Amino acid sequence: MMPDGSAVEGAQGNFPFERALFGEPLAPDILGPILVSTFGAPWIKPDPLASSERMTPEEIAAASAAIPPGVIGRQGTSLLYPVQTPDLIGVKDRRYLDHTGLQQHRSIADLMRYAAINQGADDLASYAGFIPAGTPPQFQNLPDPATQERYSDEQLYALALYVYALKPPPNPNKFGAAAAQGQKVFEREGCANCHNPPLYTNNKLTLAEGFKPPPGADKKYDILPISVDTDPYLSMKTRRGTGYYKVPSLKGVWYRSMFGHNGWCATLEDWFDPRRTQNDYVPTGFKPYGTRNSAVKGHRFGLELSVEDKQALIAFLKTL
Ligand code: HEC
Repeated sequence: MMPDGSAVEGAQGNFPFERALFGEPLAPDILGPILVSTFGAPWIKPDPLASSERMTPEEIAAASAAIPPGVIGRQGTSLLYPVQTPDLIGVKDRRYLDHTGLQQHRSIADLMRYAAINQGADDLASYAGFIPAGTPPQFQNLPDPATQERYSDEQLYALALYVYALKPPPNPNKFGAAAAQGQKVFEREGCANCHNPPLYTNNKLTLAEGFKPPPGADKKYDILPISVDTDPYLSMKTRRGTGYYKVPSLKGVWYRSMFGHNGWCATLEDWFDPRRTQNDYVPTGFKPYGTRNSAVKGHRFGLELSVEDKQALIAFLKTL
């Protein structure tokens, strides 16, 4: 939903899911199993969910309220480290799906598979013996249609064709003098090494901070073996973790918000503000629950530009 009230179909949604789902404190016996099945990753030591299990329903409601529109505590991520809601416009050209590149996208069949898996098949998967739909025991007999059926292949194919057909809204930002200067800055600063036109992504995976790919990974995946040093949690400690972060496309940034994979920065101006890497920074988008200040680290590209160059760069990005 845009500020003027118009809706852009397929774009990054901004419905506040967490506030709607968990905004009112739920009874602990209902809340506990929901949290474990949605976010649990108990095979990781120390268990990353342990801190939220110790939280009271009121604290969970407050943590949910801290998740801004445009960011979502999607199943398999974490209520404490939710993800930027992705834009589906242009997904046809993305070689990996999810911020962590959890699934390859080689053909329409992969998008169909992705839809089926996210419709609930992932809840039936075994993560080192942990089955989200099956644990804890009180979940086993819960008649949850999402975990019991999926769309037919025909429906999934039609759905995927529809997603492929999504088109961006007309861009109100014309390519003028400022954008032309910004394009020069973009080229000079080496942004195109990763965000190269025409897709404004090289469609590759980068490494989460601290991750070493296993031998042979470079033959299976298209990896740029460097890290932009953003927060490693999502990719290292959740069920959607892979050890990688994909290079996002910059197309459509003019109608998007909540930048970075956890959606820390509400605007591009904030994303390119060097103060964001300092510990006393107050993020304008998602900030981890219970913190007042929190550095948004990594991706230092473009932070040290002059005021004019930065404005021009942002003007250029908004034309994409
Ligand atoms: C070495 C590769 C690389 C270079 C060079 C690079 N980026 Fe990025 N960029 C990334 C990756 C990876 C991310 C995702 C980081 C994350 O969220 O963890 C990203 C994220 C972004 C985002 C946020 C997008 C979103 O949807 O959240 C913007 C905007 C951006 N880059 C612009 C730029 C600009 C402008 C430059 C040049 C000044 C640049 N990048 C240079 C790899 C790169």
